[in-house]
Formats: sequence, C-alpha cells, structure tokens
Amino acid sequence: MDSIYIHGGITLQGQVRVQGSKNAVLPVMAATLLTEGTSIIRNCPRLKDVYHMQTLLESLGCVTARDKETLKIRATDVDILHASKGMPEDAVRGMRSSIILLGALLGRLGEVRVEYPGGCVIGERPIDIHIEALKKLNVHFEEKSYGLYAYSSELRGAEIGLAVPSVGATENLILAAVRALGTTVIRGAAREPEIATLCEYLAACGADITGIGSSTLVIQGTKELAGTDFEIPGDRIVAGTYLCACMATGGEVLLKEAPIRQMQETILTAERMGAVCQKTKEGLYVQVEERLQSPQKLITAPYPGFPTDMQSPFLPVLALAEGECFVEENIFENRFHIVPYLEAMGADIRQIDARHVRVRGTEELTGSPVSAKELRGGAALVIAGVAARGETVVDGCKFIERGYENICRDLRELGVRIYGV
Ligand code: EPZ
Repeated sequence: MDSIYIHGGITLQGQVRVQGSKNAVLPVMAATLLTEGTSIIRNCPRLKDVYHMQTLLESLGCVTARDKETLKIRATDVDILHASKGMPEDAVRGMRSSIILLGALLGRLGEVRVEYPGGCVIGERPIDIHIEALKKLNVHFEEKSYGLYAYSSELRGAEIGLAVPSVGATENLILAAVRALGTTVIRGAAREPEIATLCEYLAACGADITGIGSSTLVIQGTKELAGTDFEIPGDRIVAGTYLCACMATGGEVLLKEAPIRQMQETILTAERMGAVCQKTKEGLYVQVEERLQSPQKLITAPYPGFPTDMQSPFLPVLALAEGECFVEENIFENRFHIVPYLEAMGADIRQIDARHVRVRGTEELTGSPVSAKELRGGAALVIAGVAARGETVVDGCKFIERGYENICRDLRELGVRIYGV
C-alpha cells in the first residue's frame, strides 16, 4: 500500500478489535531463542517487522509455523553453525528491533554478529547503553567491518544501574541475564508494559525474575528454559491511536481488547480533555459528544508517564480542541515531522524548537495531500485526515504498515470512508 485516501469529516461510530502488540511480540520472539522447546505465541500481529523477525529466527535454526494469529516457534536446533552463516541482511536492516537478538543470542550461543541498526527519522537511536550494560555481564565487543561482534566465554550476573531507562537495553539485559551464572540486578530498568510481557513470557518458560513491572529487576540465571503457550496483549499504541481518532471527530466507539491497564496516562489525558472512557468487559468504550478542551500541557516521559508514541496521534486532537497546548517531547529528539502538514491542513501549530511545539485549537481542519515519514507520525496524519473536511491523501504508507496491520480496515469498521492503494 502506497497511499491512503480518506474522505473525512464524519463522527466515528462502531467497534473494532485491537491487534496484538508489536513492541511486545518482537522481544518475546527473540526470547524463544533462549528456550530448547516449542513456544506457541498467540495474538501475534501480522506486520512486516514480525515477518522479518520470523525470517531471522529461521536463519538461526528455528522452525516456525504461522496459523492466523498464532505463531509456533521451535528453537531446539539453534546452533553456532546456523548463526555463523549470518542473518539475512534485508531482515536485519529492515527492522531496528533486530538489536534485541544481541541479548538473546549471547544468552543462547555466547556470541553474535550484528550490524549497527542505524538511526531513523525520529532520532539517532544509538546503542551505547545496551553495550555498556552488557559489558557488565562479561560480554566483550569488537568493531568489525560489518558492525559488531559480541562474545562471552561465560555470562556472569552483575549489579547494573541504567542511567536512562532504555526499553531496548533493558530487554537485552534481561535476555542475557536469564542465562547468566548467578544473580543480575537491574536498577533503573524501563517499566514499559512490553518489558513486563517479556518477563512474564520468560517466567512461564522457567526463568526466575522478581520485581516484574518495577524499575528493579532481579534475575537468577537458569541453565534451561522450556517453551510455553503465551498470549500477547493488545497493542496499547494502536488502541490509543483509535481513541485519538474518536477524540478528533467525536462519536462513540468500542475498542475491543484494548489493554486498558497499560493505557492509564493516555486515558487520563483523554478524560481530562472531556472524553468519556469506560472499561467494559470487552475493552475500552469511548464517547466524545462535545468539543474537547485542551489539556494545556502534554509532556512525554518514560512509562508510566505519557508515552512518546502517543505524542503524534494527539497533535491533530489538540489542533481541534478548545484552547492552547504546549507539547514537550522528552524521549526522541526529532518527533515533530508532521507539524508542517498539520499546518497545511489548517492547524494553528508552531514548532518552538526540536523538542517543543505549541498548538492552538481551531474549529476545523481541511483535507490535503500529506506524506508519512515515520510510523506514529503517519498514523497521526491519518487521524487528521479522518477529522478534516474533504479529501486527504496520505503518502508513504509503508511506514504506517510497520505498526498497524490494517489501519484502513479498522477505521472503516468505525464508519470512516478510507481506502488504501
Ligand atoms: C522502544 O524503542 C520502542 N520500540 C519505541 O517504539 C518506543 O518509542 C520507545 O521504546 C520508547 O517507549 C520497540 O519496542 C521496538 P529506548 P527503543 O531505548 O527501545 C536513547 C514505535 O513507534 N538511547 O527506550 O529504541 C534513544 O535514542 C517505536 O513503535 C540511547 O541514547 O527506545 C532514545 O532517545 C518508536 N542509547 C531514548 O534513549 C541507547 O543505547 C529512549 O530509547 C539506547 C537508547
């Protein structure tokens, strides 16, 4: 799909099922490498990054099979022979999360060759925190022409303090530490729900992890882990995106299987603005009857703070709310790419510097051709198009497809006239 055509301006009505979480399933898939058996992963979203990870696991000797939303991974035959052949470049380059294989392969084989994942449009995204933390577990790194060679004769547990609660670095540390000798204590660990999901999967496989959900994780290394049957929770950012779509247009929607407990700050912000959000047996019910009030300030922070991934989807909502809002982005240094496009659609939005924008609510947005440059910004442009009067065409939809199985199908369920070509 290259472009999305939207005829906007209607209020949303209906119900949609929220897909499984992308950022939870990828580390769980990497973690299967640490097991000797077969894992059944349920509610696995159908996304390019997931297919890339599946290809990478197969190149390392895993046997995988997919049936609808269920993915089976048998990691019994992972060995150095497979790993030494190298991983398919397309899959490594195509997916930043391939860096998560660092911890998993160190845990399984004691060595790994990885390419530098590289930055992306939202920021430089270095991996220095991953490397420094893994060194404390007795991992050594060598710079090679292709990237990095990491190895350890024996992973040894250690006390590690993370100065920045990096999600990826915490995941890599957990993956290596579950197979290390002795105890690892990670202080200042990221607390994003995807970390808890990874720990729960590993615990179900036999790992000994305490402090799950907190910023101090204590991991007792284990020699052997078995496979398990595991369900991936709904995607909190996809659910938040559809919540924002409803906030931008008004209406009444049910977001089935939305992981409400993981969405506290997003839901709280929506409620503060005047949206009615109710937890039901099936998911999150949202009702927006009147024009919303700006929350005045929106400041992103590590979990449980307001998520950086929800910052872009909220911009079109703020552009239509009553009042002014100051937005501060504290996680990534370049996450305001959509500002000129929102301006072109009629938003009163001004970028103050790389980390700050000010949005003054206007009554209406007008459809316009726009271009997605990255995943969440792209989804935000779709929301703007859904709310705008007239037709919006969003180009660059390959970025949106990295995180949304089928955003057009989902929004059609909610009554939007939208299709992708
Ligand atoms: C994860 O990225 C998510 N990706 C991101 O989701 C999410 O925005 C981010 O966490 C924050 O919640 C996946 O789970 C696949 P970090 P990650 O390490 O792990 C800096 C989406 O749209 N940093 O917590 O890469 C880094 O540059 C995406 O689904 C270093 O400086 O995030 C960033 O500024 C985008 N050195 C900050 O820390 C390091 O070694 C947070 O990054 C590592 C990170």
